[in-house]
Amino acid sequence: MVGALFLLPLMLSTFVIHHLSVANGVSIYGEKTVLSLHKFQWKQHSGIPNCSSQKSRRENGATILEMKHRDYCSGPVVDWNEKLQKRLISDEIRVRSFESRIKNSVYSGIEDQIPLTSGIKLQTLNYIVTVELGGMNMTVIVDTGSDLTWVQCQPCKLCYNQQNPLFNPSKSPSYKSVSCDSPTCQSLQFATGNSGICSGNSPPICNYFVSYGDSSYTRGDLSRDRLILGTTSVDDFVFGCGRNNRGLFGATSGLMGLGRSDLSLVSQTNSLFGGVFSYCLPSTDDLASGSLILGGDSSVYKNSSPISYTRMIPNPQLSIFYLANLTGISIGGVKLPDLGNNGNGILVDSGTVITRLLPSVYRAVKDEFVKQFSGFPLVQGFSILDTCFNLTGYEEVNIPTLRLHFEGDAELNVDVTGIFYFVKTDASQVCLALASLSYEDEIAIIGNYQQRNIRVVYDTKESKLGFAKETCSFM
Ligand SMILES: *[C@@H]1O[C@H](CO)[C@@H](O)[C@H](O)[C@H]1NC(C)=O
Ligand SMILES: *[C@@H]1O[C@H](CO)[C@@H](O)[C@H](O)[C@H]1NC(C)=O
Ligand SMILES: *[C@@H]1O[C@H](CO)[C@@H](O)[C@H](O)[C@H]1NC(C)=O
Ligand SMILES: *[C@@H]1O[C@H](CO)[C@@H](O)[C@H](O)[C@H]1NC(C)=O
Repeated sequence: MVGALFLLPLMLSTFVIHHLSVANGVSIYGEKTVLSLHKFQWKQHSGIPNCSSQKSRRENGATILEMKHRDYCSGPVVDWNEKLQKRLISDEIRVRSFESRIKNSVYSGIEDQIPLTSGIKLQTLNYIVTVELGGMNMTVIVDTGSDLTWVQCQPCKLCYNQQNPLFNPSKSPSYKSVSCDSPTCQSLQFATGNSGICSGNSPPICNYFVSYGDSSYTRGDLSRDRLILGTTSVDDFVFGCGRNNRGLFGATSGLMGLGRSDLSLVSQTNSLFGGVFSYCLPSTDDLASGSLILGGDSSVYKNSSPISYTRMIPNPQLSIFYLANLTGISIGGVKLPDLGNNGNGILVDSGTVITRLLPSVYRAVKDEFVKQFSGFPLVQGFSILDTCFNLTGYEEVNIPTLRLHFEGDAELNVDVTGIFYFVKTDASQVCLALASLSYEDEIAIIGNYQQRNIRVVYDTKESKLGFAKETCSFM
């Protein structure tokens, strides 16, 4: 299969320039960053990608897994414009599913069949890693928004097409099924929203079911086997052996759940990695690599700015998710005054693409951005994005910087590749890559587009989240 290459070489010139403009005798300090458009390309990759070839290594007690965009595993892109646009539409479905979990949400009537604690709309889950399970290589999608790790499993009743061979329990001497009366089976309720179901003979084994809200699901036996992450071995790792799976999981073998409940990979490897993981998402969808690092030794990070930490804030309605307290936003170095804050916190998610802000906050950001990015023709919006420009014909543009501030003086400086979303490949519709929620009481979300080239640290032990600048690569 010929894979797709989405070449977005915007990282070429990412230095920040400062310029001083004088209007009516008042000095306005506008902090800008250079976005190169002239080498903007949308190409097909000619090589044959191998889904199971993501690398890994161990360094100073941390395990480092190579992370790639999952387009690497899927077929060639026929129409880039269509692909870019579809991604935005499915992103909105994931967000609605999150919102439906908050009490009194307008969406809760529509989608209240969605379990409280499962990942949503997998089409938008973009990043993959390769691990070894029961002696077989498995390439799985990484999701911080769900808990149970699972793979498609033989014998399979219903399986979607995947690139690598299916997991085969009978070939693994270390495979065990989980019994129905075990506490592990009972923890399914909290981790997946559905309790375990007993089936089979003596002793009855535990069956799991996870529904992802977009008619994707996985169903099968709750099992244990040896998981190898890089060179680190995790014996008796609990996972789902999926015998009935449907959905948009690309050509991958399944999913890795990095949420907060007992069944997540983070909890199960707590004694090995201390409940700390981090990732760096590459800025392109092509062969570029990022990394998923398990373990908290920050000496293995390649960050070029200090890690800026903020407290994880609790929200009983969203207990498996990672939330922070967003306290401010700066556009071009101008800090917006008194942002609205509904007390819900902002969800940091690896699966949502575009950051969602409360309507009042989005309006303030938009107004300031348009004010500072003046002189470029505004064009109509697309889907969730409503601040769009026609940049056809420009080689490069100076765009205002975007910085998120968090409780405890922490900051996330959005990389230049995370500020604009290209709806059209000819740059005739390039949009500010932020969107508004519909209501002030919804939950704001930091999407993966704004996390590119950032080391994002999840420390569940000290209950904190960290952000640092890093040019993502596996090496
Ligand atoms: C991918 O790589 C793995 C290990 O490197 C190899 O076993 C497998 O045959 C390769 N698959 C394809 C489709 O080339
Ligand atoms: C799994 O992948 C690694 C790296 O590509 C390779 O070295 C190893 O031989 C593979 N293992 C199996 C069992 O295919
Ligand atoms: C967020 O931080 C602000 C400023 O420090 C504080 O006033 C507010 O109570 C915090 N919100 C939450 C939900 O903790
Ligand atoms: C964008 O700008 C170019 C160059 O100025 C122009 O030719 C083109 O018609 C514009 N496209 C749209 C959609 O406005």
